[in-house]
Amino acid sequence: MSQKQAGPLWGGRFAETLHPALHEFTNSLPFDRRLVRHDLLGSLAHTRMLLEQNILSRGDAEAILAGLSNLLREIEAGDLVVEGEDEGDEDVHAWIERTLAGRIGEPAGRLHTARSRNDQTSVALRLFTREALSSLVGLTQDLATQWLAQAESHTESWLPGYTHLQRGQPVSLAHHLLAHVWALIADAHRLRQTHDEAGVSPLGAAALAGSSFPLDPARSAALLGFDEVFPNSILAVADRDYVAQAAFTAALLMVHLSRWADEIVLWTSSEFGFVRLSDAVSQGSSIMPQKKNPEAAELIRGKAGRAIGHVSGLLALMKGLPFAYNSDFQEDKEALFDALDTAGTSLAAAAIVADGLEYRTDRMREALHGGMLAATELADYLVHRGTPFRTAHEQVGHAVREAESRGGELADLPLDSIKSCCPDADDDVAQVLDPERAAEAHDSPGGPAPARVAEQLESARSALAELREWQEGREPPPIYVAHRDGQLLEESIP
Ligand code: ARG
Repeated sequence: MSQKQAGPLWGGRFAETLHPALHEFTNSLPFDRRLVRHDLLGSLAHTRMLLEQNILSRGDAEAILAGLSNLLREIEAGDLVVEGEDEGDEDVHAWIERTLAGRIGEPAGRLHTARSRNDQTSVALRLFTREALSSLVGLTQDLATQWLAQAESHTESWLPGYTHLQRGQPVSLAHHLLAHVWALIADAHRLRQTHDEAGVSPLGAAALAGSSFPLDPARSAALLGFDEVFPNSILAVADRDYVAQAAFTAALLMVHLSRWADEIVLWTSSEFGFVRLSDAVSQGSSIMPQKKNPEAAELIRGKAGRAIGHVSGLLALMKGLPFAYNSDFQEDKEALFDALDTAGTSLAAAAIVADGLEYRTDRMREALHGGMLAATELADYLVHRGTPFRTAHEQVGHAVREAESRGGELADLPLDSIKSCCPDADDDVAQVLDPERAAEAHDSPGGPAPARVAEQLESARSALAELREWQEGREPPPIYVAHRDGQLLEESIP
């Protein structure tokens, strides 16, 4: 029989063609076309393994390898785009096979030997996921580096630290910004770990039960730069943990961006006024001419919701599925793509917003006064002088009440009234009532004292450098190097 040029990959046992509405409904080409490069790489590795195992003849394998390499080169150059709607391709895998057949004829029909779309789709999706996670590590690192640079110039800019959104104790702006930096560093580590854990190749599991051909899954895995091979062919095609984990990692990153963005929204309000946004990163109102809204920040916060939704969606997708493969898995892609895309675009937007914000350290300093921020310092001072902490807490509470009734701060209380509330207080008590001094005095590890913040800046900087090194050091899969010029390099043929 001659090589089929169009139609589904599975026509033989069907007397009727698929209902057009169901073709439309089940078609994944509109979204899985972005896996085209990854699927081509998977196919290159599979073919080369088949050749090395003498499952394919050299002539057929070389024709397939050259054909796939050309497709890869043309796709990368933008000379070829995936458009298979008119030909009825049901997914990118069908598109590749049909396009290859159009180029090289009969050998294209041998590419799918000892392979199923079940291992094929997952290998492509794993390659995609690893690539996307690695680029998110880079973007996360970039943003954290930018925030770190802002922190560096504010080691002595003081503001209230908050608990319950009530003024608590003074901190420096650097200390506060570093809290966000460390959250991003943890995200970058998590992205990297998820990248590594996605490095288990399912190729060679075929439909679910492997094959009677003498496959070498470790070889195709190595060609694709995977560190591990599936331990069980059923799990290999039934496993989407890496998808859920990647979505979760992206969602948690979004949660961190959202908390930062929420702070921008809060801090740009007239009530706080800690931040001013440049016009380039603000938007106006269609009715209220005076408005200047932090809309990009609001949308970062809003988009965290959809990333979180994808995690729930993916877990719900997986929870009732019998082992091994089920078509439901096709639904993994849009959720994963959107979770990763949302994180990527939000990181980029956050960098622009961060660039357009001005910290109003004058307003921050003003806010240090008016919240009795020295209260804990005063209690600690009394403890140093022998008062048990609980008693000191009670005594300072009375002093706070006294200051409040006089309409002032603790620092405004006459020495006598402090002494009458706190019998262990002495003439030197005034020195602990200055909030800026209090922040400087907090030099316990990880605290706001400038020396401690300097240590943090240093260790955050080296954590970020290490992440950058990992990201830049990531090598393309060996098979990619061997084929990327569209030429099948001599040494790549055994
Ligand atoms: N297009 C599908 C996906 O995106 C793969 C094919 C589903 N069918 C199959 N028999 N494996 O996951």
